[in-house]
Amino acid sequence: MDFTAKMLRDDALKGKTIVVTGGGSGLGKAMTKYFLELGANVAISSRDLEKLKTTAAELETQTGGNCLPIQCDVRNYDEVENMLAEVLKAFGKVDVLLNNAAGNFISPTERLSAHAFDTIIDIVLKGSKNCTLAFGKHWIDTKQESSTILNIVTTYAWTGSAYVVPSATAKAGVLAMTRSLAVEWAKYGIRSNAIAPGPFPTKGAWDRLLPGDLAEKFDMAKKVPLKRVGDHQELANLAAYLVSDFSAYVNGEVVTIDGGEWLKGAGQFNLLEEIPEEMWDMLEAMIKAKKNK
Ligand code: HXC
Ligand code: NAP
Repeated sequence: MDFTAKMLRDDALKGKTIVVTGGGSGLGKAMTKYFLELGANVAISSRDLEKLKTTAAELETQTGGNCLPIQCDVRNYDEVENMLAEVLKAFGKVDVLLNNAAGNFISPTERLSAHAFDTIIDIVLKGSKNCTLAFGKHWIDTKQESSTILNIVTTYAWTGSAYVVPSATAKAGVLAMTRSLAVEWAKYGIRSNAIAPGPFPTKGAWDRLLPGDLAEKFDMAKKVPLKRVGDHQELANLAAYLVSDFSAYVNGEVVTIDGGEWLKGAGQFNLLEEIPEEMWDMLEAMIKAKKNK
């Protein structure tokens, strides 16, 4: 099976304009590349304009598409409004907002300063809110027929997770916003969906979540029933589907793409996987023996 193959037909996103926050690196860059290959115009934004310019030039060369780098710290509403204005100036319209920008690091919560906690909440929750509000108001004011918001969350948005509490808190808020607006803004032709990825190695995430030799000590692939981490193209395939017209009836959904990782952690008896095959005869006999007494 080739899970790195590209899924959608050529030109599946032709004519669409897509904004990817945090599009200069990692998963945002991978999704942007595929959107360009499928014919979309894509604006990528983050705090680091030089990085964005390099990424945009590289992706334009690779795909022949049109990629616009825009500096924007999503924490600041005026910068988000400016990003929207720049996109409209360049492309005339915008169809998709992909809230992908994030900040995160591992830490015992009691070690965090109030400012550290705020930093993550501000990037993830306030940043997604800022972009959603600015783009939503624009779409509603201009009576655009159809548009889409896609939010990248995590599986711990609903389970919670120790040691990344600000991120879990913020992602839970983004998930609530996704589902709430799926209903409230459907009447304006705005769909809201989310993707919850499991482990997809990126430099940004691994440097902050698995620093030093933690990556070897806590091999993420071992936590996944399918025994591997995700490939960036697998996520890009799902994202392209969810922003395309093929998913026109998908609204308010959060699609998990984690090889079964979070459920493995949740099921009460999942640990029994560690029992060797040959022990099951003995265990069965022990259970049956009790029944007969
Ligand atoms: C404790 C820390 C800290 C750490 C920063 N701080 N790192 N506290 N432990 N490791 C504190 C600082 O001391 C400061 O508080 C406050 O946080 C803000 O730090 P700054 O460096 O000034 O913030 P800023 O420059 O805005 O950078 C934001 C950042 C940084 C989040 C800290 O890491 C960043 O730019 N990240 C962007 C990319 C990213 O995080 N990618 C990973 C996404 S992975 P004081 O009180 O001292 O002022 C993800 C999903 C993971 O989200 C799921 C995987 C399976
Ligand atoms: P990444 O490369 O570090 O991506 C995060 C991006 O956010 C960076 O491009 C960063 O760019 C941008 N960003 C950070 N703060 C910003 C701000 N204030 N304003 C604008 N942009 C900002 O890490 P990634 O792994 O690709 O993560 C992408 C998304 O996937 C995130 O939402 C993350 O939570 C999610 N996710 C990842 C994994 C995984 O395994 N990798 C798993 C679950 C969920 P600048 O630094 O240039 O601003």
